[in-house]
Amino acid sequence: MPQLYEAILVERRGLVALITINRPEKRNALNIQTREEGAAALEELREDDSVRVVVFTGAGERAFVAGADIGEFAGRTAITQRDVMLGRSIFTAIDTFPKPVIAMVNGYCLGGGCELALACDLRIASDTAVFGQPEINLGIIPGGGGTQRLTRLIGEGKAMEMILTGDSVDAQTALALGLVNMVVPFAELEAKTMELANRIAEKSPVALRLAKEAVKTASRSNLDEGLRREVDLFALCFSSEDKDEGVRAFLEKRKPDFKGR
Ligand code: COA
Repeated sequence: MPQLYEAILVERRGLVALITINRPEKRNALNIQTREEGAAALEELREDDSVRVVVFTGAGERAFVAGADIGEFAGRTAITQRDVMLGRSIFTAIDTFPKPVIAMVNGYCLGGGCELALACDLRIASDTAVFGQPEINLGIIPGGGGTQRLTRLIGEGKAMEMILTGDSVDAQTALALGLVNMVVPFAELEAKTMELANRIAEKSPVALRLAKEAVKTASRSNLDEGLRREVDLFALCFSSEDKDEGVRAFLEKRKPDFKGR
C-alpha cells in the first residue's frame, strides 16, 4: 500500500522514480516533514524491484532546494538540533540507497539543498542553477554532509572557499569545479535527465548496486582496502544471473535483458 506524502510527490516513470520536493512557495526548503517523507519514500522504493533509478528534484522553476527550513532553527537548542541531524537522515538514506540516485537541479541549490545534491550519485543542472553553502551567513556551518562531501568532490581549496565565504557559484562554474556532471538548458533539463536515468536503468541492477558501493568505498578507505573491496564486489558479480546474461548477450551480438538477479 503506497504511503501518502504531503511535502513530496513520488511518481513512477517506467523504471525510474521521480521524487519532487513540493514546497515551491518556500523554495522547497527542507523542513522536518520533507526530510522524513523523503527518507520514507526511499525506504519504500528500496524494496521495489520495478524501480531501478531514483531522480530527486524541486517543484517550480526557481529552486531545487533553498536549504534547511531556517524557520525551524529559531529557538532550537543544540541538543534538539543534534537529535534532528542524527535522526533518520535523508542524506544518509540517499548515500546508502542501493540504486543510483540523480539530482535534477532546477534553480537555487543552497545549504541543505546542495548537501542533498551532493549525497546523490550524479548531478544534472539547468543553466539557471545556483549552488552554494551559505550557512556561514547565518552564523552556522553545513551540517548535512557539506563540509565532507563537497570537499571530497571538488577538493579542499574550493570547498573551503565556498564554505567560508558563503558565496554561490553558477551552473557553468559548478561544472568546471566538478560539482555537477552536466549542465543543460532549463527547457531540456527533465528530458536530458530522464534520458540519462533510463539509460542507466537498463543496466544490471546487481552491477549498479555493487558499482555504487565500490565507488563509495574509494573515499572511505585507503587504497589497499579499497582495491581489496573492489575485488570482492567484482567477484560477487560472478554469482549473478545478470553477469551470465550480459556475457551471453555480448557473445550472441544482442542487447542484454537484465533481470536484477
Ligand atoms: N528556509 C525557510 N524559508 C525559506 C528558505 C529557507 N531556507 N528559503 C526561502 N524561504 C522562503 C522565504 O522566507 C519566503 O517565504 P515568505 O514568502 O513566507 O516570506 C519564500 O521562501 C520565498 O523566498 P524569497 O526569498 O522571496 O524568494 P527568492 O526567489 O527571491 O529568493 C533565495 C530565493 C533562495 C535566494 C532566498 O530565499 C534565500 O536566500 N533563502 C535562504 C537560503 C539559505 O540561506 N539557505 C541555507 C539555509 S541553512
